[in-house]
Amino acid sequence: MCGIVGYVGDEEAAPILLDGLRRLEYRGYDSAGVAVHENGGLEIVRAVGKLRNLEKALSDKGLGGTVGIGHTRWATHGRPSEVNAHPHASGPIAVVHNGIIENHLELRAELEADGFTIASDTDTEIVSHLIHRETKAGHDMATAVRRALGHVEGAYAIAVASEAEPRRVVVAKSSSPLVLGVARGATYCASDIPALLPYTNSMVFMEDGEIAVLDEDGFSLSTLRGEPVNRRPRKISWSPVMAEKAGFKHFMLKEIFEQPRALEDTLRGRLDRERADVETAEIGLSEADAKAIRRVILLACGTSHHATIAGRYWLEELAGVPAITELASEFRGRDAVVEEGDLVIAVSQSGETIDTLMAAKEAKERGAKVLAIANVNGSAIPRMADASFYTHAGPEIGVASTKCFIAQLANLLMFSIWLARRRGAMSESEAGELVEGLARIPHLVDERLKTTFDAVSGMVREFSGARDVLFLGRGLSFPMALEGALKLKEISYVHAEGYAAGEMKHGPIALLDAQVPVIVIAPKDRHYERVCSNLEEARAREAKIIGVTTAGDTQTQALCDAFVEVAPTHEALSPFVTVIPLQLYAYCVADHKGTDVDQPRNLAKTVTVE
Ligand code: M6R
Repeated sequence: MCGIVGYVGDEEAAPILLDGLRRLEYRGYDSAGVAVHENGGLEIVRAVGKLRNLEKALSDKGLGGTVGIGHTRWATHGRPSEVNAHPHASGPIAVVHNGIIENHLELRAELEADGFTIASDTDTEIVSHLIHRETKAGHDMATAVRRALGHVEGAYAIAVASEAEPRRVVVAKSSSPLVLGVARGATYCASDIPALLPYTNSMVFMEDGEIAVLDEDGFSLSTLRGEPVNRRPRKISWSPVMAEKAGFKHFMLKEIFEQPRALEDTLRGRLDRERADVETAEIGLSEADAKAIRRVILLACGTSHHATIAGRYWLEELAGVPAITELASEFRGRDAVVEEGDLVIAVSQSGETIDTLMAAKEAKERGAKVLAIANVNGSAIPRMADASFYTHAGPEIGVASTKCFIAQLANLLMFSIWLARRRGAMSESEAGELVEGLARIPHLVDERLKTTFDAVSGMVREFSGARDVLFLGRGLSFPMALEGALKLKEISYVHAEGYAAGEMKHGPIALLDAQVPVIVIAPKDRHYERVCSNLEEARAREAKIIGVTTAGDTQTQALCDAFVEVAPTHEALSPFVTVIPLQLYAYCVADHKGTDVDQPRNLAKTVTVE
């Protein structure tokens, strides 16, 4: 959570920092601020609320300095207010921070005893005083940062500016993400790639325990212990346009419509239609490795967790491999059993979610092999994993994950097919049917996107006033029900529950009456008849039924108050088509209600706090 940026160059820093923060606003947006070197001092400007408030404050100031740092905040310690907004200053030092300083109370007491006055409720301000204390002792900025961080426990990515060294920014990281950007005559830092894309595609991913000194000629990187690190920038293939709205009202809608492309890019070069197989050489697992896997543990949070439930069903049904899913936050710290032969698959859009990262680390320490499925190249989870299998959905900016979810599904299914073939669990003809079907999915999704959007837009007026919504599905439609409910909750603030359709009668049926819409996901698969019975049960309680039905299924459609049609597919491929109307339903309800679709309240895109 929180986004940080830094710039050292010869152009005005404030607009560059502001632009970077705009691209990072999805990480947090309850207050923002910058510190810019100006006339021998550091000018700090902060504002509560969205970035436009900071923009206004900055335009009143007219800063001309060419070196600075910036921050957009998602509150962890201290409510959103100007005094709690970053940067935090102490004497000549200003600091922006993403993460949590765990021992801040202890350090606060120590600093107060040393005579420092602490103005805010934040953990970050402690870091600025610690660094100031070291500069007072005569150390240069880099040494002071290094020494100060020696006292700190927790997660951080920080950028530091000092009045004493006006042509430098010092950055350091542990657990929270930080990337450096290098261009001719300018060096940048940011929490995430999109902030830097308009300026450079030459980037360096910092590792935990590293510190870098940035100036206009580049950067010098070393460990916090002082050992030099030689890491060359790598070229990032994302373009700045990929992170723009391209005429759509919201990033979320654009990203829903980008799903055919996200799927195509993710499948490209990986489906071997001739051999009815999947090409996964990039993962680096051998045939013997595939056979040696005794169990798969899938770890993730939020939407990625829902993808892993579908992944579990595929692994079990297609490859015959025992598989379990675990919420990463629950897997951690409870001594979950990890045995020899366990493969952990950690799934994360950002590749930075702290719970998933730490859970996967714990599993690795206990001897499991870790495979990362992530969308951000070089992010923390793939870096710690033994192997990676990237999704290629491009940058996802809307806080509600859509195109990355569908790309995660693609990777989990491809991996399941690959494993099934290696373990002799799937015949060539079965694999051929699935591989062909998967190859056609981007087209099937594309074909219906516009009509689905129109159909869903047309129905929300009737249903958007509902206070509660129930989503029901069986088999592979169950995780889609969970995902539909999560999408609706997070962007429209409507209470929604995703339920296994068979579980409805064990409790949630008590909620049903004419005010509660029930969205029933009923593709023509092996569960179809039983799902229809559940639909009838809900109808008998006067609930309003919205069906997600296979095209032409007039029998079920006749039982619904409203319905959306999805393309017929191979049963194992149904999630790719059934999730689209659910995403669009959430989007249309939120848009109808006028909520902040791309930046819903209290949320952040990348959750780097536990
Ligand atoms: O980056 P990750 O996939 O690890 O993120 C996990 C969750 O924080 C994320 O999926 C969250 O639930 C989204 N806001 C859902 O739309």
